[in-house]
Amino acid sequence: MDMLNVKNGPQNVSRIIMGCMRMPALSVDDAARMIATASELGINFFDHATCYGENGEAEKRFGDAFPKTGLKREDVFLQSKCGLHFDRKEFDWSKQDILESVEGSLARLKTDHLDALLLHRPDLLFDPEEIAEAFDKLYSEGKVLHFGISNVMPYQIELLKKYVKQPLVFNQLQFSLDQSQLIDSALYLNNKTTDRSIDRDNGVLDYCRLHEITVQAWSPLQIGMFKGCFVDHPDFPELNEVLGRIGETYGVSKTAIAIAWILRHPAKMQAIAGTMNPDHLRDICDATKVNLTHNEWYQLYLASGKFLP
Ligand SMILES: NC(=O)c1ccc[n+]([C@@H]2O[C@H](COP(=O)([O-])OP(=O)(O)OC[C@H]3O[C@@H](n4cnc5c(N)ncnc54)[C@H](OP(=O)(O)O)[C@@H]3O)[C@@H](O)[C@H]2O)c1
Repeated sequence: MDMLNVKNGPQNVSRIIMGCMRMPALSVDDAARMIATASELGINFFDHATCYGENGEAEKRFGDAFPKTGLKREDVFLQSKCGLHFDRKEFDWSKQDILESVEGSLARLKTDHLDALLLHRPDLLFDPEEIAEAFDKLYSEGKVLHFGISNVMPYQIELLKKYVKQPLVFNQLQFSLDQSQLIDSALYLNNKTTDRSIDRDNGVLDYCRLHEITVQAWSPLQIGMFKGCFVDHPDFPELNEVLGRIGETYGVSKTAIAIAWILRHPAKMQAIAGTMNPDHLRDICDATKVNLTHNEWYQLYLASGKFLP
């Protein structure tokens, strides 16, 4: 496994993160096997959110399963996210909600601290001073060691940074061969012939690189938002042909190459794998054995439906 020392943040964390959004589908025993498999593969980073599963079911399943794995708390890096309340039909980054969310995550995960807490997706009514107060309290009580954001644009990060004292070390953003809007607009800038020129995030990737914020790529294999996996999907024949051909040269699966494409970007992102199938997770971890050439990276980008302007 390729490990990362996060600038201003945790050291020796895995480039592949196990995303636990789909963990409610597993029994406690199967969840324990999945966590143990991840650990055997060198993954020490687990991503959660209060909204994964009804009433925090993903965190609860992990908390019930973890003692059965034989792992120690210090062997793993536990991250959770707060603020999404689909049940209440609102997003909430108020001080009270952040504090209550963390208490709930700690109880469900059966731990006394989160290694990282991310604000999940902007609350349109957020007050950065309130957030700073919440973070100060959580940090001083030792309940959260590192902080970050998810799906947040540069100026909103600047606004947070004006008040929040702790460094914001992660930004979780969607990025994959299919959903590559994070990089597309830079290539097609000022080009009216394609919507790919539209800057949908105010240049957040370069902002994160400039400000030493590590990007975590979510849904690295999904078509659109949760429409299924593009590997072996009949709607992506050209991409699958190139994934397969390059995979053969490295002796790894198409899935590994799709993840290696993300890891090859010089931003040194982490990739969050959502599979709950141990064989798929093994394939994904093979990505860290591959260092794609500059030309192979472009072959994959172009095969995913883009063109050189
Ligand atoms: N910050 C945010 O807003 C946000 C949003 C969404 C997700 N996330 C995070 O990102 C993580 C990953 O999201 P995701 O689950 O949508 O992403 P993903 O890893 O791109 O997709 C996983 C899905 O693809 C399926 N799949 C089919 N063939 C596969 C193969 N060969 N290899 C691997 N998977 C295959 C998996 O099914 P099997 O289980 O059968 O393999 C699973 O249903 C989540 O767990 C969560 O932690 C964050």
